[in-house]
Formats: sequence, C-alpha cells, structure tokens
Amino acid sequence: MDNFISYLNYRYLKIALWTTVIFSIIYVFHDPAQPKNGGTWFGYTIGTVSALLIVFLMYFGRRKRDYASNFGTVKGWLSAHVYLGSALLVLATLHTGFQFGMNVHTFAYILMCFAIFSGFYGAWAYVYLPVKKRENLNSISTEEYFQSIEDFDRQITSLAKGLPEKLSLMINSALERTELGGTLFNQLSIKDKSNLVVDDKILANENQSTCIELLVIELAKVTEQARSKQLKKIIDLFGSRQRALKVLRQDIKHNSKLQFWLYIHVPVSFALLAALITHIVSVFIYW
Ligand code: HEM
Ligand code: HEM
Repeated sequence: MDNFISYLNYRYLKIALWTTVIFSIIYVFHDPAQPKNGGTWFGYTIGTVSALLIVFLMYFGRRKRDYASNFGTVKGWLSAHVYLGSALLVLATLHTGFQFGMNVHTFAYILMCFAIFSGFYGAWAYVYLPVKKRENLNSISTEEYFQSIEDFDRQITSLAKGLPEKLSLMINSALERTELGGTLFNQLSIKDKSNLVVDDKILANENQSTCIELLVIELAKVTEQARSKQLKKIIDLFGSRQRALKVLRQDIKHNSKLQFWLYIHVPVSFALLAALITHIVSVFIYW
C-alpha cells in the first residue's frame, strides 16, 4: 500500500537524495578564497535553500488542517516533509562549513537537529504504532472494551450483594478505585495506580491482582457449594475485566506515544524559526 514513506514510488526520497548528493559534490569542489563557511557564494545559496525548506516544513502544520485545499494531498505533503526535512540535516551542515561555536547560529543549528531527530521518531511512530495498535485491539473497538468493562462491573456488583459485608466492600472498592490513563508519564509507562480498601486500609491493586488474590484466598476457605460457585464467577469476571483493562491501557500508551513527540517537535520548530530569523538578521548586521 502507498503510504507517506513510499508515496509516488519514493519520489521525495529520490529528490532529497539527489539534492544532497549534488550539493555535497559542489561543496567538496568549490574553492572560496576563505575557509568554507556560510558567508561564501555557496554558503549563501545553500543557506537560502535551507531557510526556504524550513519555512516549507513549518507550513505543513497549516496545510495539514486546511481540509478544503486541493493543493496536493496531506499524504504527499507529509512524504515531502519527512524526506526534505531529513535532507536538511546534510544541507544546513554544508552551509555552516562545519564552523560551529557558542553563538546564535549554532543554537539555530542545534534546534534544527532536535526538530529533525524528533521527526525521525514521529515518522517511525506513524508507521509502526498503528500496526501495534490494531494487533492489540484485535478488531474490537475501544468503546466495546469500555462497554464490556461496564457490563462486568454490573454483574460483579450484583453477585457481590450476597457476600459478607467485608468482602463486598473490598470488591466494590476495587471496582470504584480502578484507574486508567492519568498523567502522560503514567500513560507512557502504563503505570496502574488502581487500589482497593480492606479493613479501612488502602492497598495497591495493580492489574487487579490484589483483588483476585484476596478472592482466591477466600475461595479456599469456603465450604458451601453455592458460595464457592458465586466466588468463582466473580473471580472469572475480574479476570475478564483485568484482560480488557490491560488492552485499554496498552491502547492509551500507543496513543500517547503517537502524540507526545509533537510536544517537542512543534515548539522546537517555532524556536528554530525565531533563532533562524535572529541568525539571518545578525549576519546582515555584522556584514
Ligand atoms: C537565508 C538563509 C541563511 C543565510 C543568509 C545565512 C547566512 C550565514 C552567514 C553569512 C554565515 C557566516 C557567518 C560567519 O562566518 O560569521 C552563516 C553561518 C552559519 N549558519 Fe547560516 N544562513 C542562513 C541559513 C542558515 C540555516 C537554515 C542554518 C541552520 C539552522 C544556519 C546555521 C548556520 C551556522 C551554524 C553557521 C556557522 C556559524 C559560525 O561560523 O560559528 N544558517 N550563515
Ligand atoms: C527542521 C525540520 C522540521 C521542522 C521545522 C518541522 C516542523 C513540523 C511542523 C510545524 C509540523 C506540524 C505539526 C502540527 O501542527 O501538528 C510537523 C509535523 C510532522 N513532522 Fe516535522 N518538521 C521538521 C522535520 C521533520 C523530519 C526530519 C521528520 C521525519 C523524518 C518530520 C516528521 C513529521 C511528522 C511525521 C509530522 C506529522 C505530524 C502529524 O501529522 O500529526 N519532521 N513538522
């Protein structure tokens, strides 16, 4: 299938490769009267090309949201974005003539590298994570998982009614105190902060395992057949609930991995634009 990586038979990969090869050859053979740097005819040319590319890459944020536009497809724009953005790593480096220092020019360069490397992560995420997401959800929608959890909760609550108070309070607290999502760190690490209450004490109930363990201990003590059946059913329901929660937690992790890098990519891009303007203005002032 044609995705943004292979778009139009790798058209933008080819353009990016040819551009970097041609500019690299010119870089090696051009012989300015001074050390190679951003201020030679070649430096100005490739600096201008790089700056225009950055403006083009920044424009993607706008184009992406312009649903009425017929100017290319978003997939095509993303393909160009990814490959030409990567080419910038070579082009801007040739522009500098490898003259780095503690100045705003190098600062702009470092910001550009952050934008590009975070972009590499993003491109990888957009290819790999949707596949992982589908595998994890196994053709069932997240709404269906939420609905089945609600259903398990309803059945557990009604079964727990007939149990001794201490046990039914523990079970209900496990249901009420189940946590999903949370902070970005929790989402990315799939940290499960669920807990439950036994004898007024709060115990961690990660992955519902404390609750299931306590129910199994209770089951071992039971002699009455009806009670044992009731507990087994509740344990089964908690097991299904545990599996559904695990899938949802994994799905939340996939979604946050698909998004968090943009909180680096986009602000760094704007900082880069500001540093680039400062760079260009300052070289013309000191000229
Ligand atoms: C219209 C675009 C650009 C123009 C006119 C321009 C101009 C220049 C000039 C004249 C120099 C030489 C300064 C000197 O030797 O003191 C220079 C160096 C440099 N430029 Fe650019 N530049 C442009 C785009 C860029 C871009 C896109 C980047 C990277 C984000 C960049 C990063 C640098 C760096 C790191 C140096 C080396 C600074 C040093 O010598 O310490 N420039 N640029
Ligand atoms: C200096 C270089 C770059 C700049 C300034 C830049 C800037 C941007 C901007 C402004 C967006 C729009 C984000 C939004 O509004 O949601 C974007 C999106 C994106 N960029 Fe870059 N980018 C650069 C390089 C790269 C590179 C090298 C890659 C990958 C190899 C890349 C991958 C992506 C991806 C995958 C998106 C799509 C985000 C989405 O559709 O949700 N970027 N970039």
